[in-house]
Amino acid sequence: MALMKLMYQDLRKIALARREAEDSTFVRQGELNNASVCFAQALFIRGLLDMSSSFTKSTARNIFYGGSVFFFLFFIGLTFDTMTALPKRDNRANLSDAVKHGKKIWETRNCIGCHTLLGEGAYFAPELGNVYKRRGPEFIKAWIQAQPTGAPGRRQMPQFHLNDQELNDLVEFLKYSSEINTNSWPPNIEG
Ligand code: HEC
Repeated sequence: MALMKLMYQDLRKIALARREAEDSTFVRQGELNNASVCFAQALFIRGLLDMSSSFTKSTARNIFYGGSVFFFLFFIGLTFDTMTALPKRDNRANLSDAVKHGKKIWETRNCIGCHTLLGEGAYFAPELGNVYKRRGPEFIKAWIQAQPTGAPGRRQMPQFHLNDQELNDLVEFLKYSSEINTNSWPPNIEG
């Protein structure tokens, strides 16, 4: 406490000295700012000194326990809110067998090694979370069958030799992904 009082007095002195210098016409802008910073620091320490009479150990303990309980309950509340919102937003009603099979193809062919799906994945190739809305089912199937394009200067996608069933299921999976409520993310249709 004594140390704080000393600090307070020192800072006040420095601040006053700087304030005097402020009156002189030769003072530079930087020093003016220093004076106000010192005043602010002095005021802050002054505040701590005033508080120290009523701020006991048990007050500190109460703030700690009270704060912990409050934020723990707040966290539980947020978790509950998320769990109730998810079923309405994650499109689980449309998780058909075709979608599940499409997801399996998505995983075994490592599409995510180049693409992102709703932001997760690699940044080599376009986002595919909304590719169904962007291109439609026929384009997607034709595109996958036509790889690699061999277009000079463009990044290439491999040929996966998928049959019609596999292509349809993959498209079903991309359709399902595009219908997840993501609060309109990605923000534009080009991904
Ligand atoms: C080796 C990297 C790589 C892998 C693996 C890969 N892709 Fe691609 N894909 C690309 C690149 C690069 C492009 C963009 C090429 C271009 O624009 O010329 C692309 C484009 C696409 C497009 C067109 C996107 C659009 O906006 O028009 C679709 C659809 C697509 N990929 C689906 C898939 C699927 C499904 C898989 C997994 C079965 C897959 N890709 C695996 C590299 C990859």
